[in-house]
Parts: sequence; structure tokens; C-alpha cells
Amino acid sequence: MIEQPYWAVVPAAGVGSRMRADRPKQYLSIGGRTVLEHTLTALADCPRIRALVVVISPEDPYWSGLSLNLDKPLLVTSGGQERADSVLNGLEALPPEATAEDWVLVHDAARPCLRQEDLQRLFAPPHDEGAILAVPAKDTKKLAGADGRIEQTLDRSRMWQALTPQMFRLGLLKKALRSARKRSLAVTDEASAMEFAGYRPDLVEGHADNIKITRPEDLALAEFYLHQQGRL
Ligand code: CTP
Ligand code: MG
Repeated sequence: MIEQPYWAVVPAAGVGSRMRADRPKQYLSIGGRTVLEHTLTALADCPRIRALVVVISPEDPYWSGLSLNLDKPLLVTSGGQERADSVLNGLEALPPEATAEDWVLVHDAARPCLRQEDLQRLFAPPHDEGAILAVPAKDTKKLAGADGRIEQTLDRSRMWQALTPQMFRLGLLKKALRSARKRSLAVTDEASAMEFAGYRPDLVEGHADNIKITRPEDLALAEFYLHQQGRL
């Protein structure tokens, strides 16, 4: 039996304002390689992924300076204003043989510590409405009022922190993202676009070291995790 192909889209067109570095965070170096190279390598190393699309800002002067050596086809396209626009551009740039029924994984460029083990967990059971990697909330969660005071303590036992990759049928995800854009809905991850479209994706527990490099202190943490995973 021929295995159904999986495709990967990596949005890497952000500016990384919260990182306050001299360049977008995906181009900061960890152990001599950029964050983006670590991320793309993690996905390319997965045998089930057939090809990758990386989404780069049209004003990006750094991408052309990388010398990537992946053993998978890698397509490049331009990003948009919001993350969801970049992701949609990435989906539209997939090769023509990608069908609406194929699975696509969307993974943040800023998450270099993704483990193969977590990818396998995401692939494992049938997820008709898609699935995302996530970790159960650890700290007690408070809902703030407009005045900054606590309004409510939320039920932590039902709360999860959403990570990536997020995996959906290509056709359904494109439709959901286009519809969210038309309705001007705020979409911060792919699952939320799917939720707006009426789907209920599965939560698949991943490792908490799959951090999104966001603030300055996260870079050293990512380096520590990559080292621990034997990838440095
Ligand atoms: N991203 C993108 N296109 C955008 C905005 C974000 O492709 N218009 C990508 C980023 O490059 C990153 C991922 O989406 O890999 C997650 O976004 P985030 O962590 O918010 O990154 P930035 O937007 O770059 O950072 P910040 O919000 O601090 O400016
Ligand atoms: Mg952002």
C-alpha cells in the first residue's frame, strides 16, 4: 500500500518584535546553525513528510545567505501581514500533486526543538478533524478584568497550551483559513480557523520542550533542550 503523503508548511515571515534582537528570531544562531535550519531539519528528517514549504518575508535579506542541505524538496514563498496570511500563502505554494485529502503540518519556524517522537504521536491515531500538539496547562490560570484584577480562576484540568505542528487535511484547512479571513476573524493558530469552521481537532500531548522562541531568555533554553536531545 502506498502511504498517503504528508506535507509541511513553515511560516517564517515574522519580525520577532518581542525578541528584541538585531534580526528576526528565526535567523539567530544556536550552536552555529540558525533556528530556522534546526526547525527545517527536524521536519525534513521525518520520513513521512514528502516536501516542505518555507514562508519568508518579501523584505528578508537573510534567507539567501543560508546554505541548507536537506534531503527533501523545499519550496519557498512569500509571507503576508499576519501569520495566517503567511500560512495560507504556504499552503497555496504546495506542489500540484498535493491533493485536498492529503495531510499538511503547519509548524512555527521559531520552534526548533520539535522531537521526532512527537511527530509520530501526531501521526498515530485517526484524526478526522485534524490534530495539534499541545501540553496540559501547568500553572493556575486567571482571567483578568479590564482593570487588571482577577475576575475568575479557570478550570486548569481542562486547559491546554497549543503548540505546533498542527495537522489538517489540506483542502479543509485552506477553506477554513480563507473563510476566517473573509469574516475578519482573529486566527492565531490553524486550529482556531478550523474551530470557527465548526471542527473539533484532537489535542495530542507533546513535550513541553517544544518551545516557541519568543523572548530573549528563550534562546538559551532552546540551546539547552537541543543539547539535551543530542542535536547539538
Ligand atoms: N509568522 C509569519 N508571518 C507573519 C507573522 C509570523 O510567518 N506575518 C511566523 C513567525 O516567523 C513565527 C511564527 O509565525 O515562526 C509564530 O509567530 P510569532 O512567534 O508571533 O513570531 P513573530 O511574529 O516573528 O514574533 P513577534 O510576535 O514577537 O513579533
Ligand atoms: Mg507574532
